Amino acid sequence: MVRVCFVCLGNICRSPTGEGVMKKVIADAALSSAIGTDSAGTAAYHVGDRPDARSQRHAARRGVTLPGRSRQFQKSDFTKFDYVLAMDEENLRNLSKLGGKQEHLSLLLDYADALPVGSSVPDPYYGGDAGFEEVLDLCQQGCEGLLAAIRREHSL
Ligand code: 4NP
Repeated sequence: MVRVCFVCLGNICRSPTGEGVMKKVIADAALSSAIGTDSAGTAAYHVGDRPDARSQRHAARRGVTLPGRSRQFQKSDFTKFDYVLAMDEENLRNLSKLGGKQEHLSLLLDYADALPVGSSVPDPYYGGDAGFEEVLDLCQQGCEGLLAAIRREHSL
């Protein structure tokens, strides 16, 4: 099974949204038995918490369910995942500093063909509804590109 992990700061807004969107993109392609998903945060502020209620509400309107509870990303996770997708540059830097096996560490939006290389998913936590919608739009673009890359690289 190919395994992917989405990573943001708190693991309650952006990375659960990335995971939920990816699950739907994978299910729509009938590849749920071939590609597994998870998410984590670089910070521990919200460990054990369910995804933010605002993220859940906006996702539900698109038929996307946000799974899991917040956990902190561990160095050992690099050996457990084929793709580790950071939501922004700050989290990409923090993941790089952890060391370990990182061949497949990148920004999620580097897979979004229509966006400039180096694009980030902005943190919606302190903002309003539009920020949560933007997170969903960007995750959708990133996840579609990511699925295409996984299919190419793993002959799926
Ligand atoms: P996330 O959003 O990294 O997308 O889960 C945040 C959630 C919580 C905080 C910051 C960002 N916080 O500072 O508590």
